[in-house]
Amino acid sequence: MNRYRKAAVLGIIVLGVFACALLTGDSAVAGKKKSFGTGTIIPPVPVWVIGSYDTDGKPNMMTASWVGICCSDPASVTVSIRESRYSYINILATRSFTVNIPSKKYAAETAFFGTVSGRDVDKLAATGLTAVKGEHVNAPYLAEFPLVVECRVSTMVPVGSHTMFIGEIVDIKVDESVLDENGMPDPMKVSPFLFCPGSNGFYGTSELIGRVGELQRKIKR
Ligand SMILES: Cc1cc2nc3c(=O)[nH]c(=O)nc-3n(C[C@H](O)[C@H](O)[C@H](O)COP(=O)(O)O)c2cc1C
Repeated sequence: MNRYRKAAVLGIIVLGVFACALLTGDSAVAGKKKSFGTGTIIPPVPVWVIGSYDTDGKPNMMTASWVGICCSDPASVTVSIRESRYSYINILATRSFTVNIPSKKYAAETAFFGTVSGRDVDKLAATGLTAVKGEHVNAPYLAEFPLVVECRVSTMVPVGSHTMFIGEIVDIKVDESVLDENGMPDPMKVSPFLFCPGSNGFYGTSELIGRVGELQRKIKR
């Protein structure tokens, strides 16, 4: 093989390796990613406590993270619940629930609400927290939690393991002690926390990174 032919073969090999790296996504710029396949390892997710009454009128609370705001008008939230939960039966019967946003100081109670069933244990009696009858819906909210939302079920969507309950927001109630100078809920004072599927941990949210209006201006058009 002469000098030129050797150089050509070497060039083809180098180009081939480069193309393979691009095709497999194995690029130094993006970093190498490990595939987790299907599943719900998508951290973080919110931590909400869902309030409902059972058919005897006993209040119950369950922790939920398969949740979110799903519509602005009508203002609505979605909560996905397995059929096996006591809360599922309750919400099906009353067509009502509350969303209660826990502060960090209620992390232990929130973990308890998410690991014990109201079928077996009176969770309100065990935690000593106070259930208040909703003003507009047939569901209880927690007096101690700083931000609570009363919801009326508008739609139910069976998805698979879980059924999505879409709840129209009827009223949001916020403790005056957690409002900021503009009268809006101050996240630093509400002090909510997040759940990370995978590590199974609760994580704090204690820092303002920036406001959207200011941040977007940092990117030049
Ligand atoms: C952080 C966390 C998040 C959870 N999210 C959900 C959820 O979104 N949907 C669900 O059906 N169960 C969820 N669970 C499990 C229920 O809260 C748990 O099974 C609870 O005991 C049900 O209570 P109940 O039977 O009184 O309704 C979660 C548990 C934890 C700890």
